[in-house]
Parts: sequence; structure tokens; C-alpha cells
Amino acid sequence: MLQCVPGGRYIIVFLFSFSGSVKLGLWLAVVSHHSTVHGALEFIPKELYPVLFKAAFMDKRTLVLQDLVQTWPFPVLSFQKLLRKCQHCDRALLQEKPNKLCDPIGLFSLSFLCSFFLVFPSKRQCLQVLDMTGLQDDGIDQGPESMSLWSRTVTLAKACIDVSKHQSKCTKRTSKRRKGPYSSSVTLPPPQPVSVEVHVDLFVNSTSYGVLKDALQNNANSVLRLKCRDFRAEELPIASTVGLLEFLDPTGVRQVDLRFNNLGLSGLRVILPHMAKFTNLVSLKLPYSNIDVRRLSAGMEGSLHYFATQLSRLSCLKELNLGSSRLSGKLRQLLGDLQGPLESLELAFCYLLPNDLAYLSQSLHTPTLKKLDLSGNNLSDSLLQPFQHLLEEASSSLLHLDIMECRLMDIHLESLFPALCRCSQLRYLGVFGNPLSARGLKNLLQRTMGLLYLQLVIYPYPVDCYSENLPWVSAELQQMLLTASRTDVVWTTNLCRHNTLDYFNL
Ligand SMILES: *[C@@H]1O[C@H](CO)[C@@H](O)[C@H](O)[C@H]1NC(C)=O
Ligand SMILES: *[C@@H]1O[C@H](CO)[C@@H](O)[C@H](O)[C@H]1NC(C)=O
Repeated sequence: MLQCVPGGRYIIVFLFSFSGSVKLGLWLAVVSHHSTVHGALEFIPKELYPVLFKAAFMDKRTLVLQDLVQTWPFPVLSFQKLLRKCQHCDRALLQEKPNKLCDPIGLFSLSFLCSFFLVFPSKRQCLQVLDMTGLQDDGIDQGPESMSLWSRTVTLAKACIDVSKHQSKCTKRTSKRRKGPYSSSVTLPPPQPVSVEVHVDLFVNSTSYGVLKDALQNNANSVLRLKCRDFRAEELPIASTVGLLEFLDPTGVRQVDLRFNNLGLSGLRVILPHMAKFTNLVSLKLPYSNIDVRRLSAGMEGSLHYFATQLSRLSCLKELNLGSSRLSGKLRQLLGDLQGPLESLELAFCYLLPNDLAYLSQSLHTPTLKKLDLSGNNLSDSLLQPFQHLLEEASSSLLHLDIMECRLMDIHLESLFPALCRCSQLRYLGVFGNPLSARGLKNLLQRTMGLLYLQLVIYPYPVDCYSENLPWVSAELQQMLLTASRTDVVWTTNLCRHNTLDYFNL
């Protein structure tokens, strides 16, 4: 339609006068014609950019996207904000399964980032921050077409390296031209390219270490400056981890997640001092770090003390995950010196002892805890009573409680009901992997019906029921929810739902 109209720009401006009521379909028609948009760029009102961006993104119109970003009239371009529901279209594109063809980073880093920065410095450049954080990566159900956070990190790092290379080529060319054979001795300095901060979440392992390190090393002089928000490293040696942490922008880092790194107390001794410069670090995750405090030698006792001291230097810390380390009896020593209260504490499979839970229930952390994970600790025995007490103390703030694989039977759960029912804000409860009966489950459902904010319960396969009976049990639970008009609560045995629950989304 637009192709046959020479003045496509008028159509865009005309459409804009109705923009509130124009549906995304029309914008899709507009962006399908690149030269129309291109020719109309200087007439397009600012307010129209977001919807055109969404339409171009949805329709994979790379050239149009390039044009839009190149002339972006605002200082910040955030994928998360642009691709959510809007008045023109209620599709939240970021919540849809990304695939390589339309993945924001795949699309941008390769085709667009490079070409955009080849033409710098642009006269009209207003853009200062390209925000690519918060893109979906639940790590599950990803088909071969989908792009994970890991591969996005690689793609982006490569693009940054390409841009840097090109930048230095251009700079050389410019300075040569300026120095040309007849130039006078007084030469103007070459125009400084305006740099853009690229806010990202990064996920790296030993395979991608080299490329990311190269990209970060170039950062200081590059027109594209990576600023990492959430940093995650998996199975990465200590020296490499430190090598990357050194190059992260200290003010941007919100979360550091080092997992399966087998650091031990001696490795943490090396790494923790590098965290202190992250003045905005809110979340530190060190699961599977292989800390073992049982039978410590004198030297290791010192390391534990040092580790606790380093933790206490993180003044903004709100979330701590020490899952799968053996912390028996040392919780007070580890958490006692923290400056402020934690809001999320994950201590799954930590071999905790009664005095650990007793300490915790009296600590400054408990009244502010929003998320608590004590999965894999044996709560059936001597921990039951201190846990009951802990739950009472945390009841006014707790939103998220994981007690999976805690050996809880019906009778234990029964004794927890009074404290559990006081957790009036609770949204999530994980009891998967406990030896409960079908009757125990029904009882749990009945008793938690009064928790008005409860949204998700992950329950175990009942011990008294063979797998062919499970559909029957879940049908009964669904019926109970229906009867109580609580079909808003999801009761499921599917652990996949669990992976998407994050402290920052609470
Ligand atoms: C790093 O992660 C990628 C993506 O998951 C994987 O393909 C690769 O094998 C991993 N490298 C190592 C050394 O495990
Ligand atoms: C957990 O506690 C129960 C007592 O209720 C005990 O029989 C069991 O051996 C304990 N399990 C572990 C791994 O400590």
C-alpha cells in the first residue's frame, strides 16, 4: 500500500494523529516498507518511535530497527520497556519464547550494532544507554532455535570486539587523512565518537571466557561500553573469575552468581576481596562452592573468619545463597557481622544444626526475610522445633518458602500449620520431595486456603499413591480449589515453574 505512495512520510505523520487508536497491525504495514520509513525519519514525531520499534521488532525488520535506533530521540532505549504490553498491542514480546531469528540480542548485536557504530559520530545521536537487561532466560524448554543468556553473551561480546576493531581502523584512517601531504601543522583533533553504555546481564563459562575477557578489556576505549548488571559464571577457574570481575564496571553490578566453581574456602578467600568494589551489589550467590566447615583446621578457621569479614563489607547485600555447602553450626559466625538485614537467604542442603536455626530466628535478618530456602535440611527431627520458631518470626515478611526434600511427613507438617498459616503474605510454597500422603496434601491445601496471596504450591507425589493414581489425586486437589473459589492458586508437581522465581521479581 505504502509502496505506491510517493509521500509515505505523510502517511506516517497522518497515522500519528490517530496513534492512540491505531492498532499495531497498521504499524506493521508501515515498517514493512523500509525506504518509506527511512525517507520519513526526520518527520517522525518522537512519540511514535516506541510503537514503530515494537512493530519493526515483531516483524524482524532489521533495517528499520537500525534506522530507528540510529536516530533514537531519547537518551535510553530499554528492550524490557519497549517490548512489553502497550496501548497498541497487548503482546509482551519478551515473555514469548525468544528464538534466534528475532532474539533481541541476536538481531541487534550482529546486524545492527556493527553497522550503527560504523557511521559514528552521528550528528543526531541522542542515545546514551542501550538497556538489554532482563531478557527472558529460564533455561528450560529451550528448543534448538532459542538463544540462551550464554549465547547472547558470546554474540554481544563478539559484536563489541568487531566494533572496537572497526573503530580503531576508522580512527587511523581519519588521522591519516587529516595529516595528509598538504596539511598545515595545526590540525583539528578527530571528532570524538559518542559512546553508548550497553547494560547487560552476562553468563560465562570456560568456553566463552576468552571472548568475553577481550570484549571487557576493550571497554574503556570503545564506543560501546558494556556495563554488566547480573554476572553469572559457571565452572570457571578462580583466576579466570577474578580476571573478569576486575573488568566489570564497579557501580553497575547488582548480582554476582558463581556456581559449580568448587571454590572452597581457599578459593573464596581469593575472590571475595574483588567484590568489595561493587558498591551496589545486592545479591551474592555461591551455591556448590564446596565450603565445608566440619572439622576445620586452624588455618581454615582463619579462612572462615576472613570470608565472614569480607561478606560484611558488602554494605548493600540483600540476598545470599550458600546452597550445598556444609555450614553446620557456623551460621552465626557467617552472618552475624553483616551490616544490614538480608531479604533472601538460600541455605539448601547445608547440613544445618538446631543452633543455626536458633541463631537465625533471633537474628536481624528474620523479620525482613522475603525469601527463605531451607530445602534438603532434615527438618523432621531436631530441627523441627527451631524451624517452627523461625517461621513464626519470619511470618510477617515471608513471600517465598522452599522446604523441599526436608523429610517432612504429615505429622511434622501438622505441627508447622500454626506458624505457616501466620505467613499471610506468602505467595509461594515449595514442599516437593517430602514424604507426604494424599491425605496430608489435602490437609495442607485446606489449611493454606486462608493465605490470600498464595499463587503457587509445588507438591510431592504422595507416598501412598502409585504413579497411575496421581492424576486422580491432582484432580481431587483441583476440585477442592474450585469449591473454595481459589482457582487462582496453582498446585503442581512440575518443578519447571520453580526456575523462574527470582528475588528481584518478588
Ligand atoms: C559452556 O556453556 C555452553 C552453553 O551451555 C556449552 O555448550 C559448553 O559446553 C559449556 N562449556 C563447558 C566447558 O562446559
Ligand atoms: C533425619 O531425621 C530422621 C529422624 O526423624 C532420622 O531418622 C534420619 O536418619 C535423619 N536423616 C539424616 C540424613 O540425618
